[in-house]
Amino acid sequence: MSYPYQIKSLEEYRKIYNQSIEHPTKFWSEIGEHFKWHKQWDEVLHWNFKEPKVEWFKGARLNITENCLDRWVETQPDIPAIIWEPNDPTKSSITLTYKELHFKVCQFANVLKNNGAKKGDRICIYMPMVPELVIAVLACARIGAIHSVVFGGFSAQSISDRIQDAQCSMVITADGAFRGNKTIPLKSIIDEALLTCPSIEKVLVLTHTGVPVSMINERDLWWEDEIKKIESQENWYCPAESMDAEDMLFILYTSGSTGKPKGVVHTCAGYMVWANYTFVNVFQYKKGQVHFCTADIGWITGHSYIIYGPLSAGATTLMFEGIPTWPDAGRFWEIVEKHSVNILYTAPTAIRSLMSFGIEPIMGKNLSSIDVLGTVGEPINEEAWHWYNENIGNKKCPIVDTWWQTETGGVLISNLAGITESKPGFATLPLPGIQPVLVDESGKEIKGNEVSGNLCIKYPWPGILRTTYGDHERCRINYFSAYPDLYFTGDGCLRDENGNYRITGRVDDVLNISGHRIGTAELENAINMHTGVVESAIVGYPHDIKGQGIYAYVIFNGMHTDEEHTKQDICQTVAKIIGAIAKPDKIQFVTGLPKTRSGKIMRRILRKIAEGDINNLGDTSTLLDPLIVEEIKSNRQ
Ligand code: WT7
Repeated sequence: MSYPYQIKSLEEYRKIYNQSIEHPTKFWSEIGEHFKWHKQWDEVLHWNFKEPKVEWFKGARLNITENCLDRWVETQPDIPAIIWEPNDPTKSSITLTYKELHFKVCQFANVLKNNGAKKGDRICIYMPMVPELVIAVLACARIGAIHSVVFGGFSAQSISDRIQDAQCSMVITADGAFRGNKTIPLKSIIDEALLTCPSIEKVLVLTHTGVPVSMINERDLWWEDEIKKIESQENWYCPAESMDAEDMLFILYTSGSTGKPKGVVHTCAGYMVWANYTFVNVFQYKKGQVHFCTADIGWITGHSYIIYGPLSAGATTLMFEGIPTWPDAGRFWEIVEKHSVNILYTAPTAIRSLMSFGIEPIMGKNLSSIDVLGTVGEPINEEAWHWYNENIGNKKCPIVDTWWQTETGGVLISNLAGITESKPGFATLPLPGIQPVLVDESGKEIKGNEVSGNLCIKYPWPGILRTTYGDHERCRINYFSAYPDLYFTGDGCLRDENGNYRITGRVDDVLNISGHRIGTAELENAINMHTGVVESAIVGYPHDIKGQGIYAYVIFNGMHTDEEHTKQDICQTVAKIIGAIAKPDKIQFVTGLPKTRSGKIMRRILRKIAEGDINNLGDTSTLLDPLIVEEIKSNRQ
C-alpha cells in the first residue's frame, strides 16, 4: 500500500514540485491533512530570514507521538514498529509491534513524570542503540520534554558541555553499550560528566551490558525498578501532552566552524511533517516493507529515518546495535537476509569500508529482498556507488543519494527511488518545497546550468531549524547572515546541464570524517589543551575509507621522550575532550605555521601539503615567514 501524497512518476514530481513552489502554503496545508492534530493551524507559514523567524502550522496543537503511535495502534496494532538486531549475532532479535511500543512509551512516560519531568524540561539521552532508546525519545515527546540525544562515542567532557548548555534536569542512560568486541561504560562516563553538571536531578539507568556501575542514592535510579512501580499501579496509559506546533521537540548538537557545538532546535509540527514527507517520498516506502537505516540515533539521520519518519508513517524500522565489520564484514548482509530488509540506508564510508573486504562476505547471502538503497552523510565516490549498485543492489535497485543536514531536519535534495533518475555522485533534484540557489562569493545568484557556487536555500521548508538553543544570534550569524534572505548550507555545489545538483563538500572550516561533522576550531581547542602544545592547525585530507581524514600540524614545546608517544598522548587528550571520533589520523610537529602578516593561518597551504600537492602551493609571498613552508613540506606525514 502506498500513501496518498507519494509521488508516483517523474511527470508527477515535476507537477508537484511546481505547485509546491508556486503555492507553498496551499501545498503544505494539504500535506498537513494527513496528520493527527488537536487543533488546526491558523496560518500555514509565517516567516522572515532576517531575525530569523520561521513558524509552520502556526497555532496548531498536536503531539508527535500520537502520529507515530496512537493512530497506528488503532489501524495496525500488530504490525512491527521496531525490529531490533543486537550487536551479537548469536543473541536473539526483538520485535515490538505498534501496540507494544505504544504501551512501553506510555509506561516510560509515566516513569519520567513520576520523577518530576514535565513539559519544556530538557532531558539528555546517552544510550546504546536498543529499543529503550527509541522508547526514551518518544516518552520525552509524549510528555513534552525536550530530548537531547548525545551519541555514545562522545566523551564525558562533551556530554557535560551539552548538558550544561541546555540545562538538562535528567539523564537517561544505560550501564553500558556493546560495540563489536568492545563495550562502552556509558554510566561511568556519565558519572564523570555529572561532576560538572549541577542541573541534573535524576539519572535513569537501563541494565544492558551488566557491567558493575555506581548508583548514587536519590539521584540514580534503575529503569527496571521504575517501570515496576508503574506496572504495579496498572495505570500504564499516559495521555499525550498537547503541544503547540512551534514548541521545541528536540535539541541536537552539531559542530560548526567556530567555538563549541551548537544545539540545533527542531519543533513539533514542521519537523514531523518534513521527516514523514521525505521518508515516504525519497524511499518510496510501501506498507509492509522493512526499512533499515544503519545510522546511530545520536545523529540526525537516526532521529529522522529510524524514529520519526518511519514511525509517523506506520512503517517497520529496523535498528542495529553493532558495527558493520563485527564479527565479520558480512554483518549487514546477514541482517538483510535474516529480516528480509527492503530498504537499506547507509553511509558512503560504510560502503567503502565493506568494499575493502571484497565480495567474499556477500557470497551466499540472500539480498533479494532489497528494493531500494540509500546513502547519506558525504559525497559518494563513483567507485563506491557502482560497487553498491552491482553487489548489493544487483543492478536492479535505485540508489537514493540524499543530501541534507542536521539543520534541515530531513532530506532536501535527492532522487526519489525509482521515480526520478539517479546519477552517480549527484544528489540530483530538490524535494518539493526546496528552492536551491547557487551564489558566488559576493552573494550574487549564479543562474543557469553547468555552474557551481555556494549552496543556499531560498524559502523555508517545514523541517528547517528554528534556532540554536540559548543563542538565537548565533543561529542568525551562522546560517542567515552570509547572504541576505537565504539559508546558507556551508556546502559547495554544482548544477549540471539537466539541473541536477552535486554536492562537492564543505566550504567552511568544518570537516566531514566518516560522515560526522567536526569543526576544525573545536578540534584545535582540544589539541591546544594538551600540555606542551603551543598552537595547532587542523585540515582535512582525502582518506580512502573515511572520506576525509584529520591532519594536525602541531607546535609543541614540551619534552618528547619519543615523538610517537607524544602523538598518542595528544590523541588521548582529544578523545577525552571530544571523543574518539575526533582523533587525528596524522600529526606533524612543526616549529611554526604559515601565517599572513596579520596573523591569520593560511589553511589553503596546509591543506595542499596534507593532500600531497606540494608543488602547487600558489602565492606564498604574503607569508610572514615563507621558509616555514619548506620545513613543513619536507616533514610531511
Ligand atoms: C553535511 C551535514 C544529513 C545527515 C548526516 C550528516 C554532508 C550530507 C550528503 C550527500 C554530499 C553530504 C554535507 C552536509 N552531506 N549528505 N548526500 N552528499 N554531502 O549530517 O552532520 O549535519 O552534516 O554532510 O557537507 O553539509 P550533518
